[in-house]
Amino acid sequence: MNERDSDAVAAMLRGKGYSIVESELDADVVLLNTCSVRDQAEQKAIGKAGHLTKRKRKNPNFILGVMGCMAQNRGNDLLDRLPDLDLIVGTQKFHRVPDHLDHMIATLQGQGPRPDTIVDLEAEDGSQNTIKSHDADKQQVSAFVSIMQGCNMKCSYCIVPKTRGAERARPMDEIVAEIEALAANGTREVTLLGQIVNQYAVREFPFVDKKSPFVQLLERVHAIEGIERIRFTSPHPVGFKDDLIECYARLPKLCEYLHFPMQSGSNRILKAMRRPYTIEKFREIIAKIRAVRPDVYISTDVIVGFPGETDADFELTRHAFDEIGFDMAYLFKYSVRPDTTAEPLGDPIPKAVKEARNQVLLDILGRHSLARNEALIDTVEEVLFEGPAKRGEGMFMGRTRGHRKVIVKATPRLVGQLVPARITEATASTLMGELVLEGMESEQD
Ligand code: 5AD
Ligand code: SF4
Repeated sequence: MNERDSDAVAAMLRGKGYSIVESELDADVVLLNTCSVRDQAEQKAIGKAGHLTKRKRKNPNFILGVMGCMAQNRGNDLLDRLPDLDLIVGTQKFHRVPDHLDHMIATLQGQGPRPDTIVDLEAEDGSQNTIKSHDADKQQVSAFVSIMQGCNMKCSYCIVPKTRGAERARPMDEIVAEIEALAANGTREVTLLGQIVNQYAVREFPFVDKKSPFVQLLERVHAIEGIERIRFTSPHPVGFKDDLIECYARLPKLCEYLHFPMQSGSNRILKAMRRPYTIEKFREIIAKIRAVRPDVYISTDVIVGFPGETDADFELTRHAFDEIGFDMAYLFKYSVRPDTTAEPLGDPIPKAVKEARNQVLLDILGRHSLARNEALIDTVEEVLFEGPAKRGEGMFMGRTRGHRKVIVKATPRLVGQLVPARITEATASTLMGELVLEGMESEQD
């Protein structure tokens, strides 16, 4: 989501005549977009900003801003740690960044006293509709599309409702128009983004034929010519009903890949986390999806070390994690967040216990992921090529429909194309492959 917000700000700035440079060392302005989900992310951003402020000593016109969740969470208090910040821009004000910068630069060029820090953190009606710009000069093979902002849930550990505000949906027509424009510019894959995507517009749009607004949106995106793959992140077990499960049976462009946050395998801890489902319900949804798409890849989020998590609770998590057999997972060690309902519980689980629990899940994940990847050796997978691989001359990176990374020797011409590749080698995280070029050789040369 932050990546998408940053790209939208970059596109807005380019639209105003700013240029985006490759290296921060060449930049006259640096904007840090920030995450507050865990304290570690905030400390990292503060450290980075502190380091960057030193550049002001050499170049008094250097401009430094902090945007996003940490700006929203800490507001003016950030100035205690970072008094030299020029901009502090909250999560509902990304679209105001170009104007703020124009103003700041004009003041600096006017040779007057350095302007005060601009702090812009208010909630703004309709701000969810402003994350829509994409850079027309940049062909995005795979693009993120923000369909909503904010969250109305009250998970006890989570700072997001505070930093991102209440749930607000974008109009369906605008989302569809955005994706049509992306498709016309070469985008083949879209990932629909929201805190709880399956809750999309439940208050704003009616259900039609028992289909939720999110399912209606999926159908409309599915009908867009040029879009070949659809993903979304993240859904919530609440509201993951049969109308959405059936999409896996009838919408072939919907990839057999689902990120589905579990958080814990213990019902007692789920309750303490204020996650309104049981592990049985969570598993039932996965079973139903697997019944219609047996080859679905499933990834998840798990938090270890939530206050009060006993060995027995963790054993339930370990058991569920192993039995479900996730193909990918983001594993988090619990971090106390300000103004959450879990904050008063403190952080009683020792760091070493969290570490150990995290490692147990990592080991299981490594095993499952490797086994799943090894099973692909000698099979042919459809790969969407995204660009050159980080290493290796002539090597290109693409993804399977299951979101597995594949490295293949290819030509730049294949970027943006869906191409069959035979898988030759596998690690837990990456597949190696070779092009299956039936009758295509001459075109490749
Ligand atoms: N501590 C650790 N992990 C957290 N997450 C959210 N809040 C916290 C926290 N306080 C994790 C959840 C969520 C993911 C985006 O971040 O697993 O799904
Ligand atoms: Fe946070 Fe829960 Fe909302 Fe997800 S659903 S953003 S974890 S409050």
